[in-house]
Amino acid sequence: MLKRFTISLDEKLLETFDAVIKQQKYENRSEAIRDLIRSSFVEEEWQADKDVIGVISMVYDHHQPNLQEKVTEIQHDYHHQIVSATHIHMDHHNCLEVVIVKGKAGSVNELADRLRSQRGVRNCKLAMSTTGRDLH
Ligand code: NI
Repeated sequence: MLKRFTISLDEKLLETFDAVIKQQKYENRSEAIRDLIRSSFVEEEWQADKDVIGVISMVYDHHQPNLQEKVTEIQHDYHHQIVSATHIHMDHHNCLEVVIVKGKAGSVNELADRLRSQRGVRNCKLAMSTTGRDLH
């Protein structure tokens, strides 16, 4: 059931908000505010080390000695947290690996940190999402 409530905002802040959500292609304020509230819940889940879901995407040079083995070894250390992994050979040097992860926020963060800090890993991002259990 939808409930309505009123928000009081400083005029300048509201103008900025409207400009930003227009740029982000929101059709109305309500959906933009709903998304903001949801993303603050997602953040809270990650902060509180709750069960979360996320995507690690990393780009690395497979010519870097031992890196491929190291990436595999690290992922095996966290096999409970890994749902799936996809490897794409982007060009002669670079590989893209996309890993879907699930589990306690702390362990998922730790996995991303370990991958990111390897020499030859050019870029490693963790997109944090939520299991959706507490999200409506
Ligand atoms: Ni590759």
